[in-house]
Amino acid sequence: MPQAQIIDGKAIAESVRDEITRRAAALLETTGKRPGLAVVLVGEDPASQVYVRNKDRAAEACGFHSVKHTLAADSSEAEVLSLVEQLNNDPDIHGILVQLPLPGHIEESKVLRLIRPEKDVDGFHPVNVGLLTAGERDSALVPCTPAGSLVLLKRTLGDTLSGKTAVVVGRSNIVGKPMASLLLQESCTVTIAHSRTKDLPDVVRGADIVVAAVGRPEMVKGSWIRDGATVIDVGINRIPAPERGERKSRLVGDVAFDEAVGHAGAITPVPGGVGPMTIAMLMVNTLTAARRLLG
Ligand code: GUN
Repeated sequence: MPQAQIIDGKAIAESVRDEITRRAAALLETTGKRPGLAVVLVGEDPASQVYVRNKDRAAEACGFHSVKHTLAADSSEAEVLSLVEQLNNDPDIHGILVQLPLPGHIEESKVLRLIRPEKDVDGFHPVNVGLLTAGERDSALVPCTPAGSLVLLKRTLGDTLSGKTAVVVGRSNIVGKPMASLLLQESCTVTIAHSRTKDLPDVVRGADIVVAAVGRPEMVKGSWIRDGATVIDVGINRIPAPERGERKSRLVGDVAFDEAVGHAGAITPVPGGVGPMTIAMLMVNTLTAARRLLG
């Protein structure tokens, strides 16, 4: 069976970050200012700690001013809101990211809505959601994972997205919905499938482009993939090590990669596909926010 092209997200993310590093240096030259990113972590969730550390390091590697705020898990909602307000008013901070999930006693939407839309580098504020949905993505800040997925699609397919059928599996606010908006703006014919979709395998078989973002390990089977389709796997699922047999836990996507690779024309691996692009796009958004705020 022919084997799919493996889309090298790590290499593409590095090229994006190199470009951002150059453009940040040029901004420093003309304005005397570095793009400033503040990342807020509430609590000690180990996965969130890793993500926040990686974001902070990437920002420093791009030559940004990077600040990490870690609050205790039992911090009050008022304390978190007060920190966001302080960052909103800080002229050296152009991007604010509050790592999700927040502890249960803090209302996520209340915190996300307080972030100034111009500094909302996650693209979760209703103003940015609205701009993207209205087709004004050039004025919006677009959520990093779908934005990175679109870069991978464009690097793989060039200017041929228009008219293609795309199926997004998953309807989350962070990935599924904004991904569908982006693909629609590229003139794809877009279907959003989800857990209640009837005949999901057949729906996926109709797609030239499949974006899997459901958070369920290897749910999308190889036999669902149309020959030659382009597959973007957003899932990152850790499979624990069994008592016997394999010694280490492993990461798998939402697509059964070993099966799909025999059908797809191109596919992202997990890890090394969409993951590295998410952080690269956070750097893009922070630079964009800084350039707009610095006028
Ligand atoms: N938690 C999981 N994904 C994300 C993301 O893209 N942004 C933030 N802030 N938190 C997350």
